[in-house]
Amino acid sequence: MITKKIIIAIDGFSSTGKSTIAKKLAAALGYVFVDTGAMYRAVTLHALQQGYIAENYFDQAALEASLSEIVLSFEFNIKRQMSDIHLNGENVEKQIRTLKVSKFVSIVAANSKVRKKLVEQQQAMGVKKGIVMDGRDIGTVVFPNADLKLYMIASPEVRAKRRYDELLERGDDVNYEDVFANVVERDRLDSTRKDSPLVKAKNAIEIDNSNMTLEEQFERLLLMANQIIEA
Ligand code: DC
Repeated sequence: MITKKIIIAIDGFSSTGKSTIAKKLAAALGYVFVDTGAMYRAVTLHALQQGYIAENYFDQAALEASLSEIVLSFEFNIKRQMSDIHLNGENVEKQIRTLKVSKFVSIVAANSKVRKKLVEQQQAMGVKKGIVMDGRDIGTVVFPNADLKLYMIASPEVRAKRRYDELLERGDDVNYEDVFANVVERDRLDSTRKDSPLVKAKNAIEIDNSNMTLEEQFERLLLMANQIIEA
């Protein structure tokens, strides 16, 4: 018997635990997992490296003109048992997670030409279904017909603490206030931009995981996914 494959779209603000649950769900279902935030972060890293963006400066035309030279791919990392993002053949998984990239990513992600390029690539990845994709516009723009749409929420304090702990664990020299300020500012930019702002898709199921364990979320979401697959 061939089991039906579905598309699962997970949206939400930064550090709502979208990627963690998306990864776990994809592994359990044998699906592909795509962290679209990593793609916007890689383009931001490129813009920083090329000097197209800096404090109070953004040469959008230069970035747009260079978009055709940017090749993004996900390559499986056996050690981490998950995919790393590559920018023009270089593994940049670690570099894209810095607070510096986080500071500029929402500005770069507001550019419509950047979004068009990445959305096209994301839609191509979902052609065969069997995919769990997380981001800000997956259920609204990338896959408006997704079989299961989730909208993850958690308080800014909980999210900033999660991001702060992650950065500390990596050995980054950060303070909680800066991380909190970045989370709040990105929430504002991501939900007020003109092109594809973060909004809850009409038929998305809202999950507030401020006080939920990963296991509790996983069990609930896996049940929902299996009910759709078996329907
Ligand atoms: O999920 P994340 O925090 O790694 O995402 C980084 C940024 O990328 C986020 O602040 C907004 C942008 N983003 C987006 O605009 N659309 C997506 N589908 C995913 C991320």
